Amino acid sequence: MFFKVPALLLVAFGVLSGVLALPIPSETNGQRLARGLPPSPPKFLKRFLATPVSNAKRTTTSPLPPVTLSGRLQVRSKENGSSLGNVRNWPGGGTISGTSAFSPDGDLLVTLTYNPSDPTKIQILSTNPAFPAPFYVGAGTSNTISVPHLAAGDYHSVGFTNVESTAPGSPPSKAPSRDAYVESAIWTINPSTKQLTAQFINEDGSTPPTVFAYDIRNNNLFFTGDIAEYNSHASFLASAVDLYLV
Ligand SMILES: *[C@@H]1O[C@H](CO)[C@@H](O)[C@H](O)[C@H]1NC(C)=O
Repeated sequence: MFFKVPALLLVAFGVLSGVLALPIPSETNGQRLARGLPPSPPKFLKRFLATPVSNAKRTTTSPLPPVTLSGRLQVRSKENGSSLGNVRNWPGGGTISGTSAFSPDGDLLVTLTYNPSDPTKIQILSTNPAFPAPFYVGAGTSNTISVPHLAAGDYHSVGFTNVESTAPGSPPSKAPSRDAYVESAIWTINPSTKQLTAQFINEDGSTPPTVFAYDIRNNNLFFTGDIAEYNSHASFLASAVDLYLV
């Protein structure tokens, strides 16, 4: 007890000197040095030494508005980028599953809307369809014998055709009033180049390679998970091609 009193006094003195060491506003470094204190840190350091929350710059990110684009769908060679024709607009069977290379009047016109901060899972809508509904541009079958499935190392394909609207990220859905499995919200756009790429979703929710392919001999556009496997099983060779909104 006897020895603790001076110790407490020392503590109290320490606290007092701590109080005295607190910076006085608008005090110069000369005055600080005169009081035996180090110079105050430069302003830029004070910013970092201060509590981060109070001094953090508040960035208000207002969401970018959606972007709507219209045009034609142009099929291009992957080798040299040259056009192989625009997606066609036929009244009969086969609707959009090929190009109108020899008939410009037969081009399909489309519109799409995307979110600039996430330009994926986009739907493409036909605006001048010469065929009856459905009017979305997507992946679909012409029967419901089996659910379409794409995979690397698998020769199977699924048609590039006019489909009903399906929810973003949804697996193949049975069309409400047709004998078909369909997916529409499969497109991603590159906002600078306007290239469109597809991502098919399998029944189990997996996201397989989705190669956009063109069998020029049969003028047939489709998707496959593996173009080499497809070609090893096909009578007519197809090429992986690119698709652009123009
Ligand atoms: C571009 O490549 C395609 C095959 O993808 C070919 O048919 C066409 O002749 C080529 N065009 C030029 C200009 O090289």
